[in-house]
Amino acid sequence: MNPVETLEQACSDAWPPLKQHRLGEWRLRWAGGFTGRANSALAVGDPGMPIAEALRAVCDFAHSQGIPPAVQAVNGSRAEAEILAEGWRENVEHAAGYEVSVLVGVAMNGPFLAKNGRNGPFIASVRDTPTPTWWELSAGTTEPTPAQRHVLGTGANGYGVVEVDGVTAGAVRVAIVGPVAHISRLAVRPEFRRRGLAAELMFAASSWAKERGAGQEVLQVSVSNTPALALYRELGFTEHHRYRYWVPPMATCKDRKS
Ligand SMILES: CC(C)(COP(=O)(O)OP(=O)(O)OC[C@H]1O[C@@H](n2cnc3c(N)ncnc32)[C@H](O)[C@@H]1OP(=O)(O)O)[C@@H](O)C(=O)NCCC(=O)NCCS
Repeated sequence: MNPVETLEQACSDAWPPLKQHRLGEWRLRWAGGFTGRANSALAVGDPGMPIAEALRAVCDFAHSQGIPPAVQAVNGSRAEAEILAEGWRENVEHAAGYEVSVLVGVAMNGPFLAKNGRNGPFIASVRDTPTPTWWELSAGTTEPTPAQRHVLGTGANGYGVVEVDGVTAGAVRVAIVGPVAHISRLAVRPEFRRRGLAAELMFAASSWAKERGAGQEVLQVSVSNTPALALYRELGFTEHHRYRYWVPPMATCKDRKS
């Protein structure tokens, strides 16, 4: 595995699906439709069979689980070229943005945090279990589905919140995967934005991760999410690689649907 593939596997470990089948080094994932990452095939490494066969297995697995087939492949990778050659296309309809930038860094840009988070009146805290308001901000409900509970709740995770006047104004999730901390679900309520709350949450998540031995942070953000990209850039994150979602040509999978 090269460093990009290793990081992709770590990100996938931080986002566990309800069901996962291995296809060589590929992962076929299902989580009741909750998030593209947990409901697509991760095409990194060697599937251990010709690409056409691997893609047929992707379709069969997806159909057996009742989800549309999709592949997550690293931009510019051999897998991506082979998937393209098989007639698959970029899933431009993907609701959350079909192309994703994977950023690495440490949320510790001192001068920026002094301006935006640490000197403010709001201190974020990170707990080992999610609160109802954490769920509300992170999943849009205080009663998460089994899939949401599994994907977001499994593993050695921290659940960060920041409160303003008794209201939970922002939240973040941080998952430890070996030496890496995977940061996700960063969200600040619209009425509380541009006050440094996200910066404060990132600082708290980073500190929590460091205490647990994770020296590098990784996060995945849609290339169209301008506000989040600006925040992460200011915090000192840089792009490691990108990935995209791919879907089959209509006939390929429809014919195989049973
Ligand atoms: C992205 C998000 C978390 C930022 O929250 P926030 O609390 O407003 O961010 P902060 O106030 O800490 O911003 C700190 C800095 O980030 C940058 N930034 C944040 N929002 C920005 C925006 N809309 N446009 C440009 N830069 C922005 C700025 O540099 C800002 O500093 P400044 O306000 O002094 O210019 C928030 O917009 C949000 O919840 N968006 C929806 C969910 C989401 O996209 N999450 C990220 C998923 S990867």
